[in-house]
Amino acid sequence: MEIKAGSKLIKPVLELKNVSVFYPGKQSFFKRQKLNQANDNIDLTLRPGEILAIVGESGCGKSTLGKTIVGLVDDFEGDFMFQGLKYNPLEMRDLRREIQIIFQDSLSSLNPRMKIGTAIIDVIKHHHPNVDVKKRMDELFLKVNLSTNTTEKYPHELSGGQRQRACIARALAVGPKILICDEIVSALDVSVQAKILNLLLKLVKEDHLAILFTAHDLHVVESFAHRVVVMKDGKIVENSTTEDIFTNPQNEYTKALLQSIPEKVNS
Ligand SMILES: Nc1ncnc2c1ncn2[C@@H]1O[C@H](COP(=O)(O)OP(=O)(O)OP(=O)(O)O)[C@@H](O)[C@H]1O
Ligand SMILES: [Mg+2]
Repeated sequence: MEIKAGSKLIKPVLELKNVSVFYPGKQSFFKRQKLNQANDNIDLTLRPGEILAIVGESGCGKSTLGKTIVGLVDDFEGDFMFQGLKYNPLEMRDLRREIQIIFQDSLSSLNPRMKIGTAIIDVIKHHHPNVDVKKRMDELFLKVNLSTNTTEKYPHELSGGQRQRACIARALAVGPKILICDEIVSALDVSVQAKILNLLLKLVKEDHLAILFTAHDLHVVESFAHRVVVMKDGKIVENSTTEDIFTNPQNEYTKALLQSIPEKVNS
């Protein structure tokens, strides 16, 4: 019997319990500095081979959550667990290899003065000093469907889709178990989006990667995610299978969000 992605029979690779995240607010001379709470008591579970989408309006805290998981935000409370073991995102030297994050802006994510190949070779050498670097790079380029002559190009010489593939290859070069994808297809046109999403699906199926995915486009989420977390004002208001969220939403905010989806063109 095939076990479904997200099944409780599979042990979580990532768990968050009661996670809250704060940013410094405005400081005034007389009052103590107020903190703005960007995430409020978040509970979340991610399993190998699962694609979990986080949706919600702009500013609800999606990116903050991803950044906090990888230690890019320093004021938080709550528990973080990787494969059942507690970790502190700010002291995740060993875990850095296991959880990688990719952002929407692929151009500023890559060093403009470094050829794509050099950037990836650096990562392989740093994290896997004993592997055959050239062989590993060729494997990665094949995996993300980039031709090997891309190694000689600089980031600005690639299309947005090619650059995002290069970012995925660089993240995979580290050898992660979790990929956090923050709006990574939002800036791409629809046909390129589909190709990147198919690539991520392949990684999930073949390598049992777990993906935490944020997207504004709910059509993308519906066709791609196994589970969906709906956030509003930093809180999770609904967390369910994609099918349940889209066919039988329970929360009023989820219902409103779904009603605001523009109709698909040509569908
Ligand atoms: N570095 C920061 N300093 C202070 N406040 C921040 C910072 N980054 C985000 N915020 C605030 O935290 C809240 C959540 O922001 P976040 O970027 O996580 O939202 P988001 O859901 O990813 O939005 P979007 O869909 O527009 O990407 C917002 O109110 C934002 O203004
Ligand atoms: Mg964001």
